[in-house]
Amino acid sequence: MEKKNVLSGIQPSGVITLGNYVGAVRNWSLLQQEDRFCYYCVANLHAITVRQDPTELKRRTRAMAAMLLACGVDPKRSALFIQSDVPEHSQLSWVLNCYTYMGELSRMTQFKDKSAKNEDNINAGLFTYPVLMAADILLYRSSFVPVGHDQKQHVEIARDIAIRFNNAFGETFVVPEPLIPNLGGRVMSLAEPTKKMSKSDPNPNAFIAFTDDQKTIMKKFKRAVTDSEGCIAYNPQTQPGVANLLSIFCIFTGKTMDEALAYFEGQGYGHLKTAVAEAVIETLTPLRLEYERYLADEVYMETILREGAKQARTLAQKTLSLVYDKVGIGI
Ligand code: TRP
Repeated sequence: MEKKNVLSGIQPSGVITLGNYVGAVRNWSLLQQEDRFCYYCVANLHAITVRQDPTELKRRTRAMAAMLLACGVDPKRSALFIQSDVPEHSQLSWVLNCYTYMGELSRMTQFKDKSAKNEDNINAGLFTYPVLMAADILLYRSSFVPVGHDQKQHVEIARDIAIRFNNAFGETFVVPEPLIPNLGGRVMSLAEPTKKMSKSDPNPNAFIAFTDDQKTIMKKFKRAVTDSEGCIAYNPQTQPGVANLLSIFCIFTGKTMDEALAYFEGQGYGHLKTAVAEAVIETLTPLRLEYERYLADEVYMETILREGAKQARTLAQKTLSLVYDKVGIGI
C-alpha cells in the first residue's frame, strides 16, 4: 500500500490559541494513521516576514514544537521539525518563485491584510510568502494539507504552481489538497466576535491561549462579548458572540447544536460562559501540563527535532534534486 503524505506548518508567532487548536492542530494528530506519513513543521522562515525579536523567536520556535507534541503529534508516525533545519525549503522556494506570477501573488488576501497592518514593512518576503509555503508542501509530495480556513487560498496557489510545473516538465509534484475542518473551522475572537480568533491579537482577552491556566480561561470567557438580547440562540449574524460560545461548547463537549440549545434553554449568559469555560478547561488542562513537561526536557526536544529534520531532509533532498534536474541546474 502506498502511503499518502500529509504536510502542515504553523508559525511560531505566538502560542497556539483555541482557534488554531480547533481549526487545524487537532486534526494533525487525527491524521496520523497507518496509510499516511505526516510532516509537521514549525514555520520560522515564514515568521520573519514580520519583525521578530531574535531571542523571542528562538524561544517561541521551541515552545511551538513542544505544544505540537502536547497536542498529539507523535514522532513515531510523523516527522516534527523546524523549517529552517531543512535548507531545501528555501532552495525550492527560489525555483518556484520563478514559476509564480506577480499577479497571482497580488490577489492573496493574507498579503493584502498583512500589508495593510504593516504599512512600514511591506517586504518582498511577505509578498512571496505563499511560494515558500508551496515549497513546504511540494517538497514532501504531500497529498493532504490540514489547515484552517484562512490558508485555503495558499494551498490553492501551491496546487496551481504544482500543475504549472508538471505541465512544463512532466510529472514532478503531487498536486495537494487542503483539508479544512467544517465544524469549528472558525473560532471567533472573544472580544470582537465577528473577527477570527488570532494569536497575534494585541488584546489577550480576545483569545484563549494554549498556555492559559484554569483561572485565566474562566476569566476570559466571563469577559467574552455577548449582546443585550438575553436569549441563548444560535444566530451568528445577529448574536455573533453567543453563537461563538455555543459552537465552542459543541466542539469541546461533542454535543450537537440542538442538544446544546436544549441544554441551555431558559438559562442566562453567565451560565453559558461558565459551562463553555469548564468544557475548554477540561480538554486544555492536561495538554498544557504535557506541554510544560516537554518544554522542560531539552534533551528530548533536541533529539526529536534533530531526528525529525533528518527524516524530512531525506525526502526533501530527493525532490529538490529532481526539480533541479528538470529545470537544468542540477549537477
Ligand atoms: N502559513 C501558515 C499559517 O500562517 C503556516 C504554514 C507555513 C503552513 N507553511 C505551511 C501551513 C505549509 C500549511 C502548509 O497558518
